[in-house]
Amino acid sequence: MTKQFAYYFLRHLLRFAGASKGYTLAYCTHGGCDMPDAVSSNIAPMEGHGFYNRNSSMQAAGNASALALWEKAAQSVDLGDETLVIADYGSSQGSNSMEPVSTAIRVLRERAGTERMVEVIHTDLPSNDFASLFTTLNEDPASYLRGTSGIFPSAIGRTYFELLMPPGRVHLGWNSWTIQWMSQNPIDAPDQVFGMQSKIPEVRAAVIEQQARDWRLFLELRSQELRPSGRLLSLFPGSLPERIGWEWLTGELWGTFCDMRSDGVFSDHEILRINVPTAPRRLVDIHAPFSEGGRFAGLEIEQAEILEGPDVHWGDFERSGDAAQLARGWTGMMRAFSGPTIVNSIDPARDRVELVDEIFNRFSDRLAANPQRHDHFIAMVLLRKIGA
Ligand SMILES: C[S@@+](CC[C@H](N)C(=O)[O-])C[C@H]1O[C@@H](n2cnc3c(N)ncnc32)[C@H](O)[C@@H]1O
Repeated sequence: MTKQFAYYFLRHLLRFAGASKGYTLAYCTHGGCDMPDAVSSNIAPMEGHGFYNRNSSMQAAGNASALALWEKAAQSVDLGDETLVIADYGSSQGSNSMEPVSTAIRVLRERAGTERMVEVIHTDLPSNDFASLFTTLNEDPASYLRGTSGIFPSAIGRTYFELLMPPGRVHLGWNSWTIQWMSQNPIDAPDQVFGMQSKIPEVRAAVIEQQARDWRLFLELRSQELRPSGRLLSLFPGSLPERIGWEWLTGELWGTFCDMRSDGVFSDHEILRINVPTAPRRLVDIHAPFSEGGRFAGLEIEQAEILEGPDVHWGDFERSGDAAQLARGWTGMMRAFSGPTIVNSIDPARDRVELVDEIFNRFSDRLAANPQRHDHFIAMVLLRKIGA
């Protein structure tokens, strides 16, 4: 089937699906724009100026739940006389890296001696707010540099879908809340902002396929960078076979766009282009590359599980009953990770800054009017580089 025909077919299917669900889908209905020239590609880093650092308590809580496993990884990796190397893949602005990196340094130095030199390499997209990362390193009381010497931080601004370091360099790799981001947007979902929440099987299938390709590539590249016996801990949104999670927040964000379309702020065509290409993985997706003999690209899985994710704002809401505060908390988190990608998806000729403010103000109002628990799942995977 040619791509054009596949698109045409999908569009008609979507029309049918939309009618049967009782809401209007975001496909364009006027002549001339029924066939987008390409799937939109809009991936951007987190909201800058330290905004992500200030609005990522959910991610910090998830990371805390991985620290025991991370300690075990630091206890297990083989150490010689060499400088120890910790890589932090997808650091963003750094706040959430401080505790895992401190933990790794403490455990490695308990084993190798307190004077042992340690190199810490943070990586992220070139457009990441690295200034906030270095400010955090210098000024945050929780910085892993506090009260120590012989620790050498640096940063690499390149996608990790490329080889970032010479082979065999890394003792411990930390990777939290990043690999849900796809390397590219595989499809424009017409009924959701997040393709995995789409009711359309073809959209979900395209997302799962992209995620499978990216997972394999990520593992192949990280395996090359790891030393024999090196460990990679990867933590990212997970899902259960019967539950994806994130339904409340993603549903209200989609509802926000539907409201804005009804009010004439966005056209169908504009809304089709607004996608945030992130998606959770199931345990079966995580294990898939390892299906033959339990090994893939020189790696094996030491532990993989899906946990229930923490709801960091619900306790306060139960005590205070303040739905506006609950809404502000979750709006900050959603904007921190998806805001810049949404901005990139909007026509640059429009006032994108004003529009994104409006989107998240409306989103916050919707959350406050319908307060719920944020149900979500976390995938936690510890991998070991085979050899020696
Ligand atoms: C939600 S933040 C996670 C930050 C931090 N690790 C944490 O635990 O809070 C996701 C980060 O992944 C980065 N990212 C997404 N795709 C990437 C890629 N292909 N290469 C490098 N970093 C990427 C984003 O730029 C962003 O900084």
